[in-house]
Amino acid sequence: MPVRPRRTRRTPAIRRLFAETRLDPAQLVLPVFVREGLAEPRPIASMPGVQHHSIDSLKAAAVEAAEAGLGGLMLFGVPERRDAVGSGATDPDGVLNAATRAVAAEVGDALVVQTDLCLDEFTDHGHCGVLAADGSVDNDATLLRYREMALAQAESGSALLGLSGMMDGQVAAVRDALDAAGRSEVLLLGYAAKYASAFYGPFREAVESTLEGDRRTYQLDPANRREGRREAVLDVEQGADVVMVKPAGTYLDVLADVAAESPVPVWAYQVSGEYAMVEAAAANGWIDRDRAVLESLIGIRRAGADAVLTYWATEVAGWLRTR
Ligand code: PBG
Repeated sequence: MPVRPRRTRRTPAIRRLFAETRLDPAQLVLPVFVREGLAEPRPIASMPGVQHHSIDSLKAAAVEAAEAGLGGLMLFGVPERRDAVGSGATDPDGVLNAATRAVAAEVGDALVVQTDLCLDEFTDHGHCGVLAADGSVDNDATLLRYREMALAQAESGSALLGLSGMMDGQVAAVRDALDAAGRSEVLLLGYAAKYASAFYGPFREAVESTLEGDRRTYQLDPANRREGRREAVLDVEQGADVVMVKPAGTYLDVLADVAAESPVPVWAYQVSGEYAMVEAAAANGWIDRDRAVLESLIGIRRAGADAVLTYWATEVAGWLRTR
């Protein structure tokens, strides 16, 4: 039997040399939540180990992330007050913009400080855009708000804007607004294939979402693979520097498709529900937590992600460095 695939699996050293996919801290991005009015960080019940940060605790987490060698931080803001148009998103002193300034000053040279560009945390109805008179999400009116939000975030020092609202034309609109304001250096991440997923459940608790109903008129139908590819193509055409597939674990086929075709880097977002499932099973002693975490991340990389947003980023980077 000359062909014996087991030869390459015999020892740890051989397996290490023959590994087709690797994880590097620089390929990990940590999503973080900053809540307005907090003096101390506060745990998020559905995401054990993840916190609502105060600006001070966020700065400390950012320093820790930079020391761990992460590629970046993605900031989400949880405001105290919300309104129909999400005014807090464009207020230079709104929680997300204020936190971005603080974090960019602290670690902006060490890693890529990024911000979520979406209205859902800031609107009282909880949708990712503004509403038309009939209650539907008004795509083109929302683009005007995204343009303003992009300028506020760039002004605060965000290096990369994560366009997660799933409005048609959002990448082109934001690119145009930034370029017209002389901010052509700001990177754009198009959440190209963002699915209407049950796995965002814990995140919605984390941002104290006020959403009633769902986001199925703008996020993709989980049944659709071809449409995920199409969205990525459109985001690239509109000038996205990076495209994303989200969630990651239940959309690895879409991720592989997009990775095969995309001329720009492809990222994946391992979302709150993916995190919570592993943590809950591990807490019950039903799964080997650390191995499951690494396997989930290597699976996402293997499917084609150049970088991964994960709530385990800092911890995993620590493991990778000491191995
Ligand atoms: C919307 C947004 C969502 C997530 C990040 N930004 C999802 C949503 O509520 O539709 C989900 C992230 C996660 O679940 O970890 N701005």
